[in-house]
Amino acid sequence: MSLFATKPIDKILAQAEEGEHKLKRTLGSTQLIALGIGAIIGAGLFSLTGIAAANHAGPAVTLSFVIAAIGCAFAGLCYSEFSTMIPIAGSAYTYSYATMGELMAWIIGWDLVLEYAVGAATVAVSWSRYVVSLANDFGYQIPAAIANSPWATNPDGSSAGGVVNLLAIIVVCAMSTLLMIGIQESARVNTIIVFLKVSVVIVFILFGWAYINKDNYVPYIPENTGTLGYFGLSGVLRAAGVVFFAFIGFDAVSTAAQETKNPQKDMPIGIIGSLAICTVLYVLFAHVLTGIVPFKLLDDAAPVAVAVDRTPYGWLKTAVKMAIIAGYTSVILVMLLGQSRVFFSMSRDGLLPGLFSKVHPKFQTPWLSNLLFMVFVSLFAAFAPIQIVGEMTSIGTLFAFVLVCGGILVMRKKQPDLPRPFKTPLVPLVPILGILFNLALMFGLGKENWTRLLVWLAIGLVIYFTYSRKHSLMRRQ
Ligand code: ALA
Repeated sequence: MSLFATKPIDKILAQAEEGEHKLKRTLGSTQLIALGIGAIIGAGLFSLTGIAAANHAGPAVTLSFVIAAIGCAFAGLCYSEFSTMIPIAGSAYTYSYATMGELMAWIIGWDLVLEYAVGAATVAVSWSRYVVSLANDFGYQIPAAIANSPWATNPDGSSAGGVVNLLAIIVVCAMSTLLMIGIQESARVNTIIVFLKVSVVIVFILFGWAYINKDNYVPYIPENTGTLGYFGLSGVLRAAGVVFFAFIGFDAVSTAAQETKNPQKDMPIGIIGSLAICTVLYVLFAHVLTGIVPFKLLDDAAPVAVAVDRTPYGWLKTAVKMAIIAGYTSVILVMLLGQSRVFFSMSRDGLLPGLFSKVHPKFQTPWLSNLLFMVFVSLFAAFAPIQIVGEMTSIGTLFAFVLVCGGILVMRKKQPDLPRPFKTPLVPLVPILGILFNLALMFGLGKENWTRLLVWLAIGLVIYFTYSRKHSLMRRQ
């Protein structure tokens, strides 16, 4: 069998209904939108907005959010078409299997580990920092030894004194356990967290609006410093690359397609809806932030705290910290969900050992997959030099977006008559723009990240040719 042989869609759909690999269909459109927002609003909004404004775009970081959102919307529309046509757990992996063949599918499935597992570990580390800070506000000192990995450093480069990041382990284990217990339970907890974090974002926008100093918006796009990417139009574009991280996660909605009651109707609502809501919130949030604080002062890991200090609402600072912790918690939850569902599908196809697709008889979740990723992500967050690998989440995600957009073009050509409950508008324009846009952002991430991506994919290829190819179900059939 050729490496590029694709898997017929009817076979993919039939396999999903087989007894031991069947997941429970319980999610509706509201829960899907909440899942999307759960994964989207996190470190990107609460930390990177300030950094992008201070170093690259000034108040025009609002435009950067719009640009990044447009790029994501192209990909989101393509994800929507696929997720209604092939409403299966594996998301981009499954779509690639149906369009570009097994090898490409493997590459993308392996690549998604960067988005989901590495993303979850990165956010778990940021989570632990905010927990330490909030505990401090209440007068409790959490020892540095249990809140940092041995590699963690202070801003001045000295060691942070970490031994094991126990806090990160705790949050990863708690979220993994929730996922093992049930998708419905996980979705419920996620909805509560999303309600809390969105409320705080709205409160910040409403309360902060009165403290906007219009002088801070002049000039709206600060003049370029002479170096590409530092202010001016090129700075706005560079900032779009930075805040792209804030949108990562909307695609995780598609990994829950197999657990959705009516995926044909609800998938596009969940994907596009969560993206649209977050875009509006992000632009308003960035507008208020840069209106309250002169953009040069926003180069701070917690820019919101800097803004709150300029209002009389001191209590808002604690509320914001709580929202940030809650926000990060749901990002970790949905990322871990996405990861287990992608490996679930890869294992069901024989490319990974069967235990990743074993469904618990009572909870009807791929619990062993959750358990393994609990261990892997915990260890990674607790001991690894996470700062180095954090940006791999962005490059891995962008790569997946490029392939999904390309997949739409292939599918329209190869199988034009297949029923498409949701059709990406303006094909081929939208997928082509999606490819170009996301490739441009990938190039913006620099050589080092490309090297890391290639090394990661090379490791994946070794596993594919030594294990997966021999065990592939399609090949054996
Ligand atoms: N979008 C997620 C965040 O900003 C990954 O934390």
